[in-house]
Amino acid sequence: MSSSVVLLAIESSCDETSAAVLHNGKILSNIIATQAIHEQFGGVVPELASRAHQQNIIPVVSEALRVANIHKKELNAIAYTQGPGLLGALLVGSSFAKALALGLGLPLLGVHHMQAHILAHFIEEPFPPFPFLCLTVSGGHTQIVLVEDYLKMKIIGETLDDAAGEAFDKAAKMLQLPYPGGPLIDKYAQTGDAQKFKFNKPEIPQLNFSFSGLKTSILYFLQDQTRKNEHFIKENLADICASIQQTIVDVLLQKLKKAADMYKISHIALAGGVAANSGLRKGLETLAVQKQWHTYIPDFQYCTDNAAMIAIAAYYQYQQKQFVELTQQPLPRWEM
Ligand code: KG4
Ligand code: ZN
Repeated sequence: MSSSVVLLAIESSCDETSAAVLHNGKILSNIIATQAIHEQFGGVVPELASRAHQQNIIPVVSEALRVANIHKKELNAIAYTQGPGLLGALLVGSSFAKALALGLGLPLLGVHHMQAHILAHFIEEPFPPFPFLCLTVSGGHTQIVLVEDYLKMKIIGETLDDAAGEAFDKAAKMLQLPYPGGPLIDKYAQTGDAQKFKFNKPEIPQLNFSFSGLKTSILYFLQDQTRKNEHFIKENLADICASIQQTIVDVLLQKLKKAADMYKISHIALAGGVAANSGLRKGLETLAVQKQWHTYIPDFQYCTDNAAMIAIAAYYQYQQKQFVELTQQPLPRWEM
């Protein structure tokens, strides 16, 4: 490996267009353009995401290079999110990365989006020591991962249906809150009574999760209550949000506890957009005191989708010379 490595990384798997520049493991810039277009549809519309990526990608990459004060001729490799994600969205980032790599005569690094969420822990210290467990909770995924080394990870539990972020967003939609509703549930929950309403908690074997039953339970509960009082949601919003949040957090932490006991690991990390949830953070803190865990949560900008995490993952792949060919296709359903 050469002594100095400068990488440009591009993330375009869902509804954030992002570019980052890294120098020797240090992030010099991390530019993120969030696509507001999806708000009015209550969820990400894949075709609109692709179009927005096409509009955003050149300005986002230019800005990342400008902020980093790096000229494209100083780059050593180009990294991009190879999957998993929306095919059309991935295609924009991968085509752009390939064209740039070809034009500049640089090697190409295809990064796994979920591995990158976990490797975001190596952007800023303290770094978790190996092995550690990572609960990755985002709009698309819910996984407990055994992380043995930078590029050696094993999923030991995952959702059988909806992701945790999706459960938050779908519950928010039922409460007529705009997309993405996860952060709003968190906000209203702050002043609510989490014990006020009870929802069915799924009983799923091993370390797996399921959130579709909870969604149905919330829906029936709201239908039932609004039949009796049409202002029920408005009058009880904080308590409903707090109760929903508590239920989701309990489910996540119960499995995390089980995993830590099973694998006898006390270094526990959170990753993904739902790691921003204050109920989850508080719950993890309390559990950590009880169980004597060391916990790790990346800075918020590195929890939600961003290219800095793609850059840091690419940095480790670069050291292992794990390059991809220009013929490599995006992999929307890439297994970890
Ligand atoms: O990791 P991320 O940015 O994108 C995916 O890869 O999916 O995660 C986005 C998800 C959304 O479902 C959003 O509602 C949720 O993270 N989220 C939250 C909070 N902040 C973001 N959910 C609950 N509480 C929050 N504070
Ligand atoms: Zn993500």
